[in-house]
Amino acid sequence: MNVQTPHTADITNVDESLAVQQEQSRMDSKAATDVAMQNTLLTPRFYTTDFDQLDAIDVTPVRRDWDALIAEMEADPNKGHFKKNEDWDHVDWDGMEPELKKEFIDFLISSCTAEFSGCVLYKEMKRRGKNGDIVQLFQLMARDEARHAGFINDALREAGVAVNLGFLTQKKKYTFFQPKFIYYATYLSEKIGYARYITIFRHLEKHPEHRFHPIFKWFEEWCGDEFRHGEAFALLMKTDPKLTQGKNVLWIKFFLTAVYATMYVRDHQRPAFHDALGVDPDWYAHEVFTKTSKLTEQIFPITLDIEHPRWQPTLERLHRANVAIAEGKKQGGAGGKLKEWANSAKAAFCFVSLYTIPAVKHRVPESTRLEPAY
Ligand SMILES: [Fe+2]
Ligand SMILES: [Fe+2]
Repeated sequence: MNVQTPHTADITNVDESLAVQQEQSRMDSKAATDVAMQNTLLTPRFYTTDFDQLDAIDVTPVRRDWDALIAEMEADPNKGHFKKNEDWDHVDWDGMEPELKKEFIDFLISSCTAEFSGCVLYKEMKRRGKNGDIVQLFQLMARDEARHAGFINDALREAGVAVNLGFLTQKKKYTFFQPKFIYYATYLSEKIGYARYITIFRHLEKHPEHRFHPIFKWFEEWCGDEFRHGEAFALLMKTDPKLTQGKNVLWIKFFLTAVYATMYVRDHQRPAFHDALGVDPDWYAHEVFTKTSKLTEQIFPITLDIEHPRWQPTLERLHRANVAIAEGKKQGGAGGKLKEWANSAKAAFCFVSLYTIPAVKHRVPESTRLEPAY
């Protein structure tokens, strides 16, 4: 009997979706999983938190917006979307220029890990929660992230590699963040994720000759999911005004700076990838920061001043320090160590310099709800 394995795109339940991926993981490659296992400042991490505190949130103050958002997610506009169809062009992996292939695979592994990191965190909240509203939201978000990670893994498998998601769940190190840090970090990663996907999608709409892989065609609907996840975190933060006031504003600034700086440095490690897309990584970073800043005005009382004269040159210095750290590591020995330390100090100094640029303040609107407009 030939039993057709269901595809992760069609599954509406995170546990079934992961079971399918576990089944596929028998053929997944060690090299890709090793990359996904890395825990550095620049690689996607797995998080855990105080789930009881999260579960205690009362969404009554934002009930109207909450119900509307949940209804949108329950309607499941992207069911069946994350699946190869006739739009999936053949990819000539063997003919791909080696540097591009290396960077693109690295991009896919890192994206898959980041998507899966969201899935693991949301699924755990769904499992542990008793609060009906919270459980429902996290179940819906886990469903989406499982599909996203599964789809990237489909693409990777064609190149002969894939990330073993079951292994990652068990073996990757989990970083503890208290709930408020989870809100800031996850909210930002959802909104910046939206901005990144839509910026690439719109760029390739205008320049289809640069679309060197079909996965980019899926980015428009994809970023709709990330947009909704970001909306959910904005509402969660809205339930407690203290989260976006007083000294917490300093934490918000810290997370904004860390997320933007990490993105800049990570993207600049992939010159061949951006070249193939026809995208200048400095332009791309500026574009994504501008969109993300505009969106985060829905809930954060500050945005970073990315037009400040110190912003761009400091990011460039941070990138150079990061390249030198990697060179030092590769070099090894006393000389290599010294290079690594000196440049780590330089990188820390750059971060402080970015953090101390005065932020732009503004009034936060009464309601957080936004529609994707880019
Ligand atoms: Fe996602
Ligand atoms: Fe997401």
